[in-house]
Amino acid sequence: MSDIAVSAESPSRSPLSDEVARRRTFAIISHPDAGKTTLTEKLLLFGGAINLAGQVKAKGERRNTRSDWMKIERERGISVVTSVMTFEFEGLVFNLLDTPGHEDFSEDTYRTLTAVDSAVMVIDAAKGIEARTRKLFEVCRLRDIPIITFINKMDRESRDTFELLDEIEKTLALDTTPMTWPVGRGRDFLGTYDVVNGGVRLLEGGGAKTGATEQIDIADLAGRNANLDVAEIKDELALVSEACKPFELEAFREGHLTPVYFGSALRNFGVGDLLEGLGKFAPAPRAQDSNLRKVEAAEPRMSAFVFKIQANMDPNHRDRIAFARLCSGKLSRGMKAKLVRTGKNMSLSSPQFFFAQDRSVADEAFAGDVVGIPNHGTLRIGDTLTEGEDITFVGVPSFAPEIVRRVRLTDAMKAKKLKEALQQMSEEGVVQVFRPRDGAPALVGVVGPLQLDVLKARLDAEYSLPVEFEVSEFQLARWVSSDDRKKLDAFIAANGSGIADDVDGDPVFMAKNEFYLGYTRERAEGITFSNVKDVK
Ligand code: G4P
Repeated sequence: MSDIAVSAESPSRSPLSDEVARRRTFAIISHPDAGKTTLTEKLLLFGGAINLAGQVKAKGERRNTRSDWMKIERERGISVVTSVMTFEFEGLVFNLLDTPGHEDFSEDTYRTLTAVDSAVMVIDAAKGIEARTRKLFEVCRLRDIPIITFINKMDRESRDTFELLDEIEKTLALDTTPMTWPVGRGRDFLGTYDVVNGGVRLLEGGGAKTGATEQIDIADLAGRNANLDVAEIKDELALVSEACKPFELEAFREGHLTPVYFGSALRNFGVGDLLEGLGKFAPAPRAQDSNLRKVEAAEPRMSAFVFKIQANMDPNHRDRIAFARLCSGKLSRGMKAKLVRTGKNMSLSSPQFFFAQDRSVADEAFAGDVVGIPNHGTLRIGDTLTEGEDITFVGVPSFAPEIVRRVRLTDAMKAKKLKEALQQMSEEGVVQVFRPRDGAPALVGVVGPLQLDVLKARLDAEYSLPVEFEVSEFQLARWVSSDDRKKLDAFIAANGSGIADDVDGDPVFMAKNEFYLGYTRERAEGITFSNVKDVK
């Protein structure tokens, strides 16, 4: 496996481009219970990044009841360990960006996917493609993120292998290339055949750290398991080489084809193959789109964008950490960076790296890395940092909320404080806030109801602001824009009480229901109604 550092990238000369070329920044997408947590643990073990017991405990706690979860979330017992995990393996630096398990926080997940260059799609071998996997896959596809597939739980009863591949191809319109092939299934799962190099890797002993276990010939399998039909396996493999598309790096990088690995995260089997595949095939940090130009990762000047904000990571300090993905160049501790939105410089005096359970000060970081930048509210989601250039990275999205509520303050004297607090919460991406232009109390919008619980708990704990949420007359929000400023102004004037400002002051049309939205849209010539907004 020692060749993986250089295999997929062209040889590079400068130390900066060498550093960039050895980075792989990725996320895992899956439906709950498919095995993301287990696989994450095993990947981290490869990099020697975790103390397994601690991680498992955190996972157990997270499974507790909702109120416990809230408490833990507030105390940041789990988020610290799960935001970004960096580990090194075979000369490569892997940045694994974790995404919240609960679908109520899917907005956070979508934003995190803007910061990765590839994704691993974990599928439960008994269940195939499930709803959440499909949704997350679609987000990846929008951004042409290449996907590597890991079909997990092969040690349990599973569906027919060809059927699983067929399902991926049909439901996701994605070609598949099996890189390994399961030998036996469920209780009779013996291991995998290496489709590229030949030979069978056996499950027994599969816990070996490198996953490089005994390679044996198929014909020699007969004596190992009475239920194994060697002839059938040979037929399957013949069909694989005949019917499956050969692996093509370009098709994979463009998001049209996925290499597929089979294994069992629980048994630490197949994880080494997957990691090797990630190292070999997944792209090094890709060029990023800004409003003015494409920014190449190996450009010497540092640039980065903020895709996530985490508050109260340390309960003793009211600190906020902005997670920034470096898009180009090198970040050195103590350097000054320009926050393009305000035009002001800020000193990056203590950027941080995150490991599974720890964080440490980063002396330097390179394009592809994710650093945490402590701040007291200066940075918000979508912000761009540069060494002076006025560019803004595009593509960190906001999504129209699924639920809209009016915030009711129990103590009317605290209206100003609430306004500030809501501004902070929306800049952090906890909820979206819409301020009706007619002066009515603020509306908050969320994708999932748990976001409202978090908002309520945080307003209470951090700002001593007890609030209630009321059903509002509005249910839908759409950003409105037009190429013709006059048309937009006229639309806004005509819809007075249905217009609100979002966190950036951009106009949003609030509608009572789909019917009313459709009715208004039909009559609003020249106005674009959008349910996604790229944060600027
Ligand atoms: P998630 O993060 O995607 O939600 O999944 P997670 O890793 O928590 O795994 C969900 C369940 O599936 C866990 O069992 C886990 O042990 C099991 N699992 C994961 N990978 C494999 C595998 O390769 N084979 C088998 N047989 N099981 C696997 P649980 O009983 O729900 O939780 P726990 O009590 O084991 O923690």
